[in-house]
Amino acid sequence: MGNKDISILAIESSCDETSASIIVNGKVLNNIVATQSVHEKYGGVVPELASRAHQENLIPVIQEAILSSGISKEQLSAVAFTRGPGLMGSLLVGVSFAKAFATALKIPLIDINHMQAHILAHFIDDPKPDFPFICLTVSGGHTQLVSVKDYLKMEVIGETQDDAVGEAFDKTAKLLGLPYPGGPLIDRYAKEGNPKAFKFPVTRMPGLNYSFSGIKTAVLYFLRDQLKENPNFISENLPDLCASIQYTLIEMLLIKLKEAAKLYGVKEIAIAGGVSANSGLRETLAELARRKGWNLYVPKFEYCTDNAAMIAMAAHYKYLKGEFVGLDVTPLTKMKL
Ligand code: KG4
Ligand code: ZN
Repeated sequence: MGNKDISILAIESSCDETSASIIVNGKVLNNIVATQSVHEKYGGVVPELASRAHQENLIPVIQEAILSSGISKEQLSAVAFTRGPGLMGSLLVGVSFAKAFATALKIPLIDINHMQAHILAHFIDDPKPDFPFICLTVSGGHTQLVSVKDYLKMEVIGETQDDAVGEAFDKTAKLLGLPYPGGPLIDRYAKEGNPKAFKFPVTRMPGLNYSFSGIKTAVLYFLRDQLKENPNFISENLPDLCASIQYTLIEMLLIKLKEAAKLYGVKEIAIAGGVSANSGLRETLAELARRKGWNLYVPKFEYCTDNAAMIAMAAHYKYLKGEFVGLDVTPLTKMKL
């Protein structure tokens, strides 16, 4: 490890995953993630419990990242952290630690936008997309179409006006009596179901925007009516219900992605965020990409859900540009790209 090496410790604590990663000269060495299971029984993330769990997990996670990287903390060139968007209490834990650590080591601080990092996760491994590309970022907190012109030059060209698509997965799953987070369970049951068994409305918003709150209400009323006739309706139709809900959500996502690709004349297409783990979305998108002649980029699963490796990747590019922040930096629950 020479003097000129760029070695960065990156910290992610925006929601319910505590994560740390070390990146050296643009190569991610590790990605340590502690997932918080405390929220399961509440059917969603409880902010106060999330920040307490971050406080417990952060130091062990960072220690493991540094130890397994084989470099010492004195060799670090900078400390990076997620500034937002996210839960205030959760962000504060990461930001405070990063400030203290950077001060003690006398090295610069780098603030990272979580949504930008989800997109830069595509540069961790090969193949990497060419600029300009369009990225559909789909998670529990966000649904955005982003035009990516360069590593740090991005523009949101469409986004949800209400719920995120991950929220739509999780909330409809809850209506079906599935535990939180229900997205992966809908995916699993959908594999055995008929996506055309039930028809739910496809909401179409103006421009490249999305709305996912309608499907939750549609499923709620549909189930209420069916359960009046047959109290076992859900258990007798679970795979078909999951397949039909998933089909509708994928349809909504892809309609706007197709429009965006056409409007911007781009064939480099990427997806990012937790929902890009959905096997139905992956299959439908792969088929669409073949038909349209798109080059499709899907990150490894561990880089789709919240992780510090993507924060580290973003930090590397900011370091190269000398984009540092002072100790007066504060977390932001909302943060523009
Ligand atoms: O990106 P992420 O890990 O965290 C946020 O920043 O929100 O995304 C979590 C979301 C949850 O809503 C979860 O249900 C959803 O991603 N998710 C899935 C699948 N795996 C995770 N949704 C559908 N199918 C999946 N296989
Ligand atoms: Zn995320």
